[in-house]
Amino acid sequence: MKKFAVFASGNGSNLQAIIEAVKAGDIKAELALVFSDNYKAYALKRAEEIGIPTLSLRPKDYTNKQSFERDLVIYLKERDIDFVVLAGYMRLLTPYFIKQYPQKILNIHPSLLPSFKGRNGIKDAFTYGCKVAGVTVHFVNEKMDNGPIIMQDSLKIYEKDTLESLTEKIHQLEHKVYPKAIALYVEDRLNVRGRKVKIK
Ligand code: GAR
Repeated sequence: MKKFAVFASGNGSNLQAIIEAVKAGDIKAELALVFSDNYKAYALKRAEEIGIPTLSLRPKDYTNKQSFERDLVIYLKERDIDFVVLAGYMRLLTPYFIKQYPQKILNIHPSLLPSFKGRNGIKDAFTYGCKVAGVTVHFVNEKMDNGPIIMQDSLKIYEKDTLESLTEKIHQLEHKVYPKAIALYVEDRLNVRGRKVKIK
């Protein structure tokens, strides 16, 4: 069975959805590590509570990004991690890290990429006045929120929606979509050709 790590910087509601999908047998892989760059992340608590190993490293304890990532990679390789799932990990991975896991890093972003990249995807779509919003699961490459798209789903923004109600709906959608995309990856059903990802 493949082993994977989830990287999360904050609340970890996507992590929770993934934990449940693993428990239910919908994702047939072992969630072997939860990593955070923020030792206060609630995501770490969620993992600890059910006995999933955790690791937290503070970037500011390192002289540069690469030495931080080098330590992280050593840890991942020691634990035979096959692939990495970013779930609210708010740090751009360097080409060094990405080369260690080519086409083996997945990310979820709370917008319909390529619109509204960056940290505030939901707010940016809402304040722009969009009538439709959504979520994107994609492979990670060297550019931010840019790799080949695995899955997207959308929802309508109604006039009565507030940023809070939209945020809640987007999170609910993420929790449905991300486990499905991870399951397809685990089952080797994603065929990547350039930017196109076909589902086998
Ligand atoms: C999620 O909405 C995720 O899509 C977003 O952070 C949130 C984390 O929530 N990620 C990004 O914006 C990445 N650019 P969570 O910690 O409750 O899963």
